[in-house]
Amino acid sequence: MTMNAQKISSVACVGGGTIGFSWAVLFAQHGLRVKLYDVSDKALSQADAALQASYDTLVDAAVMTADEAAAALARISKTTDLAEALRDVDFVQESGPERYRIKREIYRDLDRLARPEVVLASSTSAMLMTEIQSVTAHPQRCVVAHPYNPPHIVPSVEIVPGEATSAETVTVTRDFMARMGRAPVVARKECRGHIVNHMQAVLYREALWLVGNGVATVDEIDLAFRTGPGLRLALMGPFMVGMLTSPGGMRDTMLDRKLDHSAEDDIPSRVEREAPPRSPENMRAWAEICVAQMEASLADTDKEQLKKWRDRKLLQILDVIAAD
Ligand SMILES: NC(=O)c1ccc[n+]([C@@H]2O[C@H](COP(=O)([O-])OP(=O)(O)OC[C@H]3O[C@@H](n4cnc5c(N)ncnc54)[C@H](O)[C@@H]3O)[C@@H](O)[C@H]2O)c1
Repeated sequence: MTMNAQKISSVACVGGGTIGFSWAVLFAQHGLRVKLYDVSDKALSQADAALQASYDTLVDAAVMTADEAAAALARISKTTDLAEALRDVDFVQESGPERYRIKREIYRDLDRLARPEVVLASSTSAMLMTEIQSVTAHPQRCVVAHPYNPPHIVPSVEIVPGEATSAETVTVTRDFMARMGRAPVVARKECRGHIVNHMQAVLYREALWLVGNGVATVDEIDLAFRTGPGLRLALMGPFMVGMLTSPGGMRDTMLDRKLDHSAEDDIPSRVEREAPPRSPENMRAWAEICVAQMEASLADTDKEQLKKWRDRKLLQILDVIAAD
C-alpha cells in the first residue's frame, strides 16, 4: 500500500546539488519537514548559501514573508548519513548524478532503507526508470518525477513510470506534486529525455551545428531565440504556437516547407550541403566551440547574480501569466 499524497509530511531530498537543494526549498515552503542528504559535506555547505539565497528571492518577490521563510529554513535538516535521512520520511526525491551506475547504487540503498510504502522519485533528466528500478526489491514504488531548473520556481514536473512502476505510485506522485503547486504531466510511455528534454535534445543538436558551422555565435542564437520564439513559448506550447502562426492554423504550419522535406521549395543551402556529418566527434568539437564562446561571453559576469536575476524574472513572468 503506497502513501496517501495528502498525508505526506516529510521528504528526503537525496543529492543536494543544483536540483536537490531547490526541491528542499519547495517542500519546506509548503510546510513539509525536509532532510537534505548528500555524500559530500562540501555540497551540503554550498546548499546552505543556496537555500538562504532562494528564500531571500521568494521574500523579495512577496511569495512568502520573512517569518515564513525563516520557518521553512528551520524545517530543513542536512545529513551525510543516508539511514538518518530516510528514517520516518514519507516521500523520497532523488537528485544524484546522471549516471546509471550511480543511480542504481543509490536506488539499491533507498529501497533497503525507506519504508516499503514510500515512493522513490527520481529527478533524472533523461534516464529510463525501467533500467534503474530493476536493482530494487520493490520496483513498483520507483518513478521518474523530472523537474525544470529551479524546481522551487518552475512548475513543470514530468512523471514517467518504468515498466514495473505501479499505477498507484504514479497517482500518488502526481497528486503530491500538484499539492506542492507543481504542474505534473504523466508521460504515457517511457522515452529517453521524457517529453521536453527529448525535444530539447534536437534544439541543442541543431544549435551546436549552427555554431560549429559558422552560421551564428552562441550570443547571436541566444538573442534571436529569447526575443523571438522564447517570448511565445513562455505563454504557449509549440502546438498552440503553430495553431496561431498561419492563416490555415496547424495544418499550414506543420505541412509547409519548413517541415515537409519532400517539398520542391525545400532547397538546402551551401553550408548544409558542405558541412561535415553530425558524427559524435564533430558534435563534440562543435560543443567545445560553443562552451568557449559562452565562457568568453560571461567572463566578467557573476554567475550567482545571474541566477538571482533569472529567479526574480521567472517569478515576474509567472505573475504575468497568472494575471490572465
Ligand atoms: N541541472 C538541471 O538543470 C537539472 C534539471 C532537472 C533534472 N536534473 C537531474 O537532477 C539530478 C541532479 O542534477 P544536478 O544538476 O542537481 O547535479 P549536481 O551535480 O549539481 O548535484 C548532484 C549531487 O549529487 C551528489 N551525489 C554524488 N553521489 C551521490 C550519491 N551516491 N548519493 C547522493 N548524492 C550523491 C553530489 O555530491 C552532488 O551534490 C540529475 O539526475 C539530473 O539529470 C538536473
